[in-house]
Amino acid sequence: MAIKKIMVIGAGQMGSGIAQVCAQAGFHVVLNDMNEAALEKGLGNIEKLLTRAVEKERINEEDKEATLARLTSSSSLEASSDCDLVIEAVIENMDVKASVFQQLDEIAPAHAILATNTSSLPITDIAALTKRPEQVIGMHFMNPVPVMKLVEVIKGLQTSEETYETIRNIAINLGKTPVEVNDFPGFVANRILIPMINEAIYTVYEGVASVEDVDTVMKLGMNHPMGPLTLADFIGLDTVLAIMEVLHEGFGDSKYRPCPLLKKYVKAGWLGKKTGRGFYQYD
Ligand code: CAA
Repeated sequence: MAIKKIMVIGAGQMGSGIAQVCAQAGFHVVLNDMNEAALEKGLGNIEKLLTRAVEKERINEEDKEATLARLTSSSSLEASSDCDLVIEAVIENMDVKASVFQQLDEIAPAHAILATNTSSLPITDIAALTKRPEQVIGMHFMNPVPVMKLVEVIKGLQTSEETYETIRNIAINLGKTPVEVNDFPGFVANRILIPMINEAIYTVYEGVASVEDVDTVMKLGMNHPMGPLTLADFIGLDTVLAIMEVLHEGFGDSKYRPCPLLKKYVKAGWLGKKTGRGFYQYD
């Protein structure tokens, strides 16, 4: 199926990054958020990153202007009525996602594919809320979206091969490398990454080493670009906890129990970079 127009729902860090790469790849994009201030911030970030790309001579001024011209915004889901693909990137909460998918199922054209950027919620469950489960799929981008090459393409139980192939090709058109993944808690990326981060938090909790030293071990010892605690702050500690809880509940295995220190930080509102404090402090 030919995809021309894409709606991205959620103008946060992930949604605005997804909208940017889609517009840069030549698609017409509607960035949607019910919060007008978030929408403005998301569009502002895209413009800033495109300006930086011009300064770095990765694109020219015309590319930037053409990308921005392909990008519009809307605070209503009604704008999905002429879209061929919708990529949802709202918060990791099943009730919120369920409401979005049920509305989209009514508004988006019958041929449209409904994709979710969920980092761990079951695609099969989200698909079952719609009357088009064969056209529902996971499209899990990594943060920061404009830089990271991976997209996990997750098939729900009822996702059709045609939907999978279309999304795989879109990911390639966006300059990404798609990886086919089946629908299990945490998929692949977060099933491996988030327990590693949780273990790093336990290491601090048990007094084995300081936050800085745990990060140094993983940066210098394993060549990770950033230490696990810096990365946790960057992802958001609420998101890290939500994913650990999905793994814990989904597998019913105590090896996935979230570290009490992680829970405590989230309760305190220390959510990482976005709130100015997590394992580190930010200006
Ligand atoms: N948006 C767009 N571009 C960005 C960016 C952002 N938020 N942050 C950095 N960049 C770009 C910079 O512009 C720079 O590009 P140029 O050199 O062409 O200017 C490039 O990335 C490198 O940036 P820096 O030199 O400032 O910093 P760095 O070398 O430390 O790289 C990084 C930054 C790419 C983020 C790197 O630290 C990294 O790879 N970190 C790990 C990221 C990671 O693991 N992501 C996965 C998170 S998990 C996830 O997303 C899944 C989930 O569901 C939780």
